[in-house]
Amino acid sequence: MIVRDATIEDIPSMLRTMDSKVVVPEVVTNLERASEEGFLVYRASEEEIRKALADSKQHIIKVSEHDDVVTGYFFAYDVKEWQRKKPEWRDSITISQENASLLNARILYGRHIAVDTKYAGQGTGTTLLEAVGEEGGNRGYEYFVDEVLEKPLLNKRSTKLMERNQFSVAGTSKDSLGRIWKLWCKRLV
Ligand SMILES: CC(C)(COP(=O)(O)OP(=O)(O)OC[C@H]1O[C@@H](n2cnc3c(N)ncnc32)[C@H](O)[C@@H]1OP(=O)(O)O)[C@@H](O)C(=O)NCCC(=O)NCCS
Repeated sequence: MIVRDATIEDIPSMLRTMDSKVVVPEVVTNLERASEEGFLVYRASEEEIRKALADSKQHIIKVSEHDDVVTGYFFAYDVKEWQRKKPEWRDSITISQENASLLNARILYGRHIAVDTKYAGQGTGTTLLEAVGEEGGNRGYEYFVDEVLEKPLLNKRSTKLMERNQFSVAGTSKDSLGRIWKLWCKRLV
């Protein structure tokens, strides 16, 4: 398996993987399975990925490849760019007291990670996370922040990924639909 920077040609594979993982947590029928295997809630559009690829200064997008097949991706934003795109995000989050200074730091915001089911559980997600974190550190980001759904349906798979990779909970967020997310955070430099 290799992890490399994504290109425009990777977009169809990324969208395929993404679409296979999107669920509506309030109505998904097999709750246990979704929680154990992980899921995405908000889709990223093709246009969003294209724009991000065209602006590599504000984004890091990596894909994993097994035998020339793209099997997963990680898509991250400079948090300032993320806040420009989603101005309501800043007001939706509550940071714990000991992490109060976090939002003044340079943050890399993890927008999406997904790995094809066929290739999951082989370390691909971890390798993608490490590769994006390493590049983030090289670019001078102080923290890597990822949001993982807590309620109405815990994303157990992604929570485990965070825990195993030394992320800790810095706070929570509540989105416009009342969904509660945990803000996982890791110091990069
Ligand atoms: C979350 C997700 C990206 C994890 O990807 P992954 O490739 O399965 O992750 P990893 O393989 O690195 O780690 C998962 C498991 O494989 C195990 N593993 C790690 N390296 C391994 C290896 N070389 N061989 C076999 N197993 C391995 C890990 O121990 C881990 O086990 P655990 O879940 O029991 O703790 C993937 O499950 C996914 O796409 N889920 C749906 C989308 C999603 O939830 N995204 C996150 C939204 S916040």
